[in-house]
Amino acid sequence: MKELKILIVFGTRPEAIKMAPLVKLFAADPRFETRVCVTAQHREMLDQVLRFFEITPAYDLDLMKPGQDLYHLTAAVITGMKPVLESFSPDYVFVHGDTSTSTGAALASFYAGARVCHVEAGLRTYNKRSPFPEEVNRQLTARIADLHFAPTNTAAANLLSEGISSQQICVTGNTVIDALLWARKKIAGYEDDEIRELKSLIQPGKKIVLVTGHRRENFGDGFLQICRAIRRIAEMENVQVIYPVHLNPNVQQPVRSLLTGIDTVTLISPLAYPAFIWLMEKSTLLLTDSGGVQEEAPSLGKPVLVMRNTTERPEAVHAGTVKLVGAHEDTIVSEASLLLTDPVAYARMSQNINPYGDGTACASIVRKILALNG
Ligand code: UD1
Ligand code: UDP
Repeated sequence: MKELKILIVFGTRPEAIKMAPLVKLFAADPRFETRVCVTAQHREMLDQVLRFFEITPAYDLDLMKPGQDLYHLTAAVITGMKPVLESFSPDYVFVHGDTSTSTGAALASFYAGARVCHVEAGLRTYNKRSPFPEEVNRQLTARIADLHFAPTNTAAANLLSEGISSQQICVTGNTVIDALLWARKKIAGYEDDEIRELKSLIQPGKKIVLVTGHRRENFGDGFLQICRAIRRIAEMENVQVIYPVHLNPNVQQPVRSLLTGIDTVTLISPLAYPAFIWLMEKSTLLLTDSGGVQEEAPSLGKPVLVMRNTTERPEAVHAGTVKLVGAHEDTIVSEASLLLTDPVAYARMSQNINPYGDGTACASIVRKILALNG
């Protein structure tokens, strides 16, 4: 077999976390020449992940601009990929999920004649506006991709129903579990400065409610309702809300202006991945609109209230550990209150389940590429 050229492209925090174990596997195998291209759609939040997983990109498009919009970003990804694709001429380009980086890079790679591999393929709400623009990004990438690595059977069924051949689909589990297991092994018994600082912020004897949020469809009224709900939850007995605030200015502005100065609400900067895992493990309950957190928390046995009306990740909802509560103040407060005060309701939602895989997703992906090039 000739050495295959593999280009792995990502740009945001969650893509970096979920692609990191795949980079490591390809890079360790001499049958591949592997290079990483980061668009740097995110900057600080991407660099945190690169440092933790010890990944040095061959190409860094350095695209992030403060308050960037979708038009500029998408165009910049496509044009930025051109020289990378021309100089490396990859056989396969791997993109992940639903970001502007993944869809732009997939389209550019198609123009360059490379085979496009979509990791975390097939997730759907079939609602173009939610999540926005991610649902359409996923559907567009599915039209472009040559190989679809679906994390679950549900995701594979979506792709089949769209007319994609079963030969092009491989069910792998989600690489986020590979990343989580890798990271937990690396940080077992380890404590860095960030974790030490976190420990000093935790108020003794309190139940921790961990919050993250960044969805475009929640900007404006959604974030106002979320912040009002957080204020009310933070008034409950023995509760501390800890919220690492996403760097998007549309999130920073409402969260900092509505939640600063409350004793039991601790606003902090985005955490590096090991500190965030440490904090998830210490938490009683998670409130989030994040995709990755919906996948990680069930395997840690932590209940999740998802502050969205739709999810493209129905598996944990069906298993009962994740509940959709929308960005509605009263619903968020009543569901959180139930979990914080009723041990039976809490026990029901804190099952340790693994609907998203067993940590072998990346190995399945590499095996598939080898099998095709036998
Ligand atoms: C992006 C993705 C979203 C993904 C999310 C993960 C798109 C359209 N959106 O949303 O699918 O779920 O990342 O977090 O692809 N910023 C910084 N530093 C950083 C990161 C962001 O300052 O390290 C600020 C910048 O002002 C930037 C803004 O956040 O312009 C928005 O970043 P962008 O990637 O466009 O959108 P996200 O909301 O992060
Ligand atoms: N995460 C992190 N630090 C934080 C918050 C989240 O490392 O302060 C991790 C989290 O464990 C998950 C991923 O970032 O793996 C989720 O990213 P995000 O919510 O930005 O994007 P989404 O998953 O919604 O696309």
